[in-house]
Amino acid sequence: MPGTCVIGLQWGDEAKGKIVDLLTRDHDIVVRYQGGANAGHTVVVGPEVYKLSLLPSGVLTPGVTCVIAGGVVINPAKAIEELDELASRKVEDYDNLLLSDRAHVIFPWHFAEDRAMDRNTSDGENIGTTGRGIGPCYRDKVGRSYAVRLGDLYRDTFADQVRHNVAEKNRLLAAMVPPEEFEALDAEAIIKQYTAYAERLRPYVADTTEYLLSAAEEGKRILFEGAQGALLDVDHGTYPFVTSSNSSGVGISNGSGVPGRYIDKVIGIVKAYSTRVGGGPFPTEQDNEIGQRIRDQGNEYGTVTKRPRRCGWLDAVAVRYTSRLSGVDSICVMLLDVLSGLEELKICTAYEIDGKRSLAFPSHVDDIRKVVPIYETLPGWQEDLSGVRSLDELPHAARDYLDRICELVGIPVEMVSVGPDRSQTIPVNSDSVVGATL
Ligand code: IMP
Repeated sequence: MPGTCVIGLQWGDEAKGKIVDLLTRDHDIVVRYQGGANAGHTVVVGPEVYKLSLLPSGVLTPGVTCVIAGGVVINPAKAIEELDELASRKVEDYDNLLLSDRAHVIFPWHFAEDRAMDRNTSDGENIGTTGRGIGPCYRDKVGRSYAVRLGDLYRDTFADQVRHNVAEKNRLLAAMVPPEEFEALDAEAIIKQYTAYAERLRPYVADTTEYLLSAAEEGKRILFEGAQGALLDVDHGTYPFVTSSNSSGVGISNGSGVPGRYIDKVIGIVKAYSTRVGGGPFPTEQDNEIGQRIRDQGNEYGTVTKRPRRCGWLDAVAVRYTSRLSGVDSICVMLLDVLSGLEELKICTAYEIDGKRSLAFPSHVDDIRKVVPIYETLPGWQEDLSGVRSLDELPHAARDYLDRICELVGIPVEMVSVGPDRSQTIPVNSDSVVGATL
């Protein structure tokens, strides 16, 4: 069975990029299958730090084919910018890349709609999107009337498609934004710009569904790289404060076209605490000194938007839910080093909602807002963990913290990360697929 998946189990930013990078060397193909340039994947290779928003983290490993599958929404300018950056930094084999002709394309009207819609949210709290046009592009995909797929850029009908869309989008935007902010879109300029993008990207465009199905049938080893986190899943997350794709494990097949029978291992990525960017409920949020301390120590500022991330205690109820939802086999606990120096740590072990104790993650945002977390307190540790390379070297309190996470979530820990570098990694199981690559 050739397929392994890496899925974030919180609200994104769990440091998935590091694990994908570690696993890539044991795979033939790395696939991004949902989201777009709203992701921010940081990979540290020795002294070099790479920040990728759209291209799969696998582009940093020579010999691996990277695929952006049909479930992704592509900003072509961003794809070109990231390819140019990798070329200028002399990354070997960086453009061994395939872009799905089914992937939907982000256009200037999507950015404008993203800005306009986010401030129009009716319930008083904004989603706080990344502003990358993700939601509006997915909305057009499902709505179909104004959608453009990457393959459309190479058809004779493309220019007329843009003219048709711009006429309608100008009407829509004029009604959405104050007159002094309205800037009409110019169809001819967009056609010219996107035709140039299309030429540049032409060598990479392919039917990736067919490519991946054949690869899976031939037994090629495929790594699926999830973006965002499962609590941002459009169907199963903290709706409507979510992204517009299936960012939990349920999205792998619909985004890539590869059925579940080819996926044999799902690795869940969990930060040792919780963070969230943008609006929406966050039961274990610490909007206080503790939260600030975690933010400072963990450098919890958005990779894409630079916004300060909201920080809080680990929520085992939420992680247990997303592990089950994503069919997780093992978890990697990330950023454990960030918690050094705290007197005590808390883990949310259950929720109280309207006076009732519950282990279920509520489906409605109003109920998530009502959650009173029930915490268990554990002793902290003072030691710096960044140089620790084996379980035996960890302070007792850190071992106990990991054991408790494992018990509460009900999934074995496969690996622990104590810093951004590839070497700052502790394999936990002797048969750890992540640890085996170190
Ligand atoms: P969008 O994906 O830009 O539409 O944003 C929707 C919500 O998802 C906002 O709260 C964003 O902050 C959040 N979000 C989107 N992508 C990421 C990510 O990669 N990490 C963390 N949060 C994200």
